[in-house]
Parts: sequence; structure tokens; C-alpha cells
Amino acid sequence: MPDVNLAVNLAGVTLKNPIVVASGTFGFGREYSRFYDLGELGGICAKGLTLHPREGNPAPRIAETPMGILNSVGLQNPGVDAFIREELPFLRQFDVKVIANISGNTPEEYGVMCEMLADAGVDLIEVNISCPNVKAGGLAYGTRPELAAEVTETAKAHAGNVPVMVKLSPNVTDIAQIAKAAEAAGADVLSLINTLRGMRIDTKTRRPVLKMNTGGLSGPAVLPVAVRMVWEVAQAVRVPILGMGGVSKGEDAAQLMLAGASAVAVGTACFADPFAPLKVRDELAALAAEQKLSAISQLTGEVKPW
Ligand code: SIN
Repeated sequence: MPDVNLAVNLAGVTLKNPIVVASGTFGFGREYSRFYDLGELGGICAKGLTLHPREGNPAPRIAETPMGILNSVGLQNPGVDAFIREELPFLRQFDVKVIANISGNTPEEYGVMCEMLADAGVDLIEVNISCPNVKAGGLAYGTRPELAAEVTETAKAHAGNVPVMVKLSPNVTDIAQIAKAAEAAGADVLSLINTLRGMRIDTKTRRPVLKMNTGGLSGPAVLPVAVRMVWEVAQAVRVPILGMGGVSKGEDAAQLMLAGASAVAVGTACFADPFAPLKVRDELAALAAEQKLSAISQLTGEVKPW
């Protein structure tokens, strides 16, 4: 089979292949580094950070669902300072682009974190305005165009030369509207989709399975929603898209790229199989070779709608 050039570009950041691991599904890479060289990946999106350490929500906060999982983790993390001191140097040992994912209670907190992370030299900052599991910030910013724009503008003003990627929520009526607001406010890249709000109930106890009652749904069940939303956003903006949501096979990644994504994140699949991102990469490369493409980027946006 002919060689396919797997390199892709996200706002000036070259990934050696289009496969990124999604925030919250790969920790800070330490556990996975026992299985393979993290430099095999295009990018690592680190566990979501906040300005101060957080313990997250009470358990149970993970539940299985048909073809997916619900989580209500609530942004458990050691804080941005600990990430910069203890985790970034570890990730920097590998030839891989490092993406920091941040959530704030206020636009100002996003600004402070962007400045710290830009100074620390991350490759890309993913601004999370779509966590469904926190009371302050999170989804509140991702469901209103003017707030999405305010957070994006503040992040951009403090991120220096580091590109800002805004992570969008699927829990909206019109995702293209939020995407356009983020792009107009300066977003360099958009990532989508975060999880879909969901709920499971134990019929014996009549209690919700998650202590927070609701959580975010991810896994193969959400792939068609992600493909549809990437397609809608790709028609509305010019900035590149990191597509994600339910990817576990090369063909899933190809669907997101055809819909308009330049790169693809593998998330929930990592929990079941640490090698999933590499399998997706290899299957995607094989699919492109079968279709006689010379570069994987030739898939982006090439869907032929009826
Ligand atoms: C969480 O920590 O609750 C998940 C993060 C997210 O959905 O953005």
C-alpha cells in the first residue's frame, strides 16, 4: 500500500498524525506511557485543569450505558500550577504536541491560566466551555454566544503566541451559532463535541445511578451526533476543527474528517483499550491508502452531501 502523509496542521501546530487523545481520558499520560511511546500520537490533550486543585464530584461518578459511559467527574485535577511543575516536564520527554485543557469559574480565571500555560510552553490551549458537571463556569459559557465570545477573547488576550482551541458543547440548539461567536472572538481552532447530558436511574432504588443525578454521555453512542455537529460547524467557520465523540475505529475518524475535522481525538475508547488511539491511526492510514490518497488531510471536508 502507498505511504500516506499523516501530518496535519492545527493553526500552525503540526501534528505528525491526526490522532489526539481527548482530555479526561488519558490523565497526564503516565499510565499509558507504560504501554507505548507517547510520541506515537499526534497530540495529547491533558486532563482538564482549573486554577486551583479540585477533588471533583462525589462518587458514583461513572456509569456504563449501552455503547457508552456517563461521567460526572467534576473536573478533579491537581491545579494548573502542579501541572506545569510536575506533569508538563514528563510529557515534554515525548515527541508529541501537548495540549492543556482549562476550565474557569470566571473569564479572568481562563486568562490567568492561559498566561501561565503560555509561559510554560504548551503547544495549544483547549478552552473548555462545555463541562456539563460543574455549577460555575463550564456549560454556562458554552451555551450562550456572548459568554463563549467573552471567554475566548480573554483567553486569546493572555495566551501570547499559543493557539487557542475552544471546546464546544453539543448541549445546544444551534452549535454553529456558538462556533461562529468563538471564531469571531479569535478562536484559532474549535474542538467538538464534549459530552451529551444524560441520566440513568436504578429502577430498584429509584435513585439516579450518578450521585450528581446527571452526567455527560460519551462513547460510540455519540458518534453520529459528533459527525453531524462537526459537519454543521465546518460549514459555518473557517478555522480548523478537532473532531471527537465516540471514535473507536479508523472509519469513525474518517467520518469526522470527511465531515470537516482536520484532526480527531480518541477518548472513551482509551478506557477499554489503551492502544485504541494507535489502532485508529493505523486503520485511518490504511483507509486513506486504499482510497489512494497521498495525504490524510485530503479527507477533510470531502463529504458529498446529497
Ligand atoms: C468532568 O470532569 O466532569 C468532565 C470534563 C468535561 O466534560 O469537560
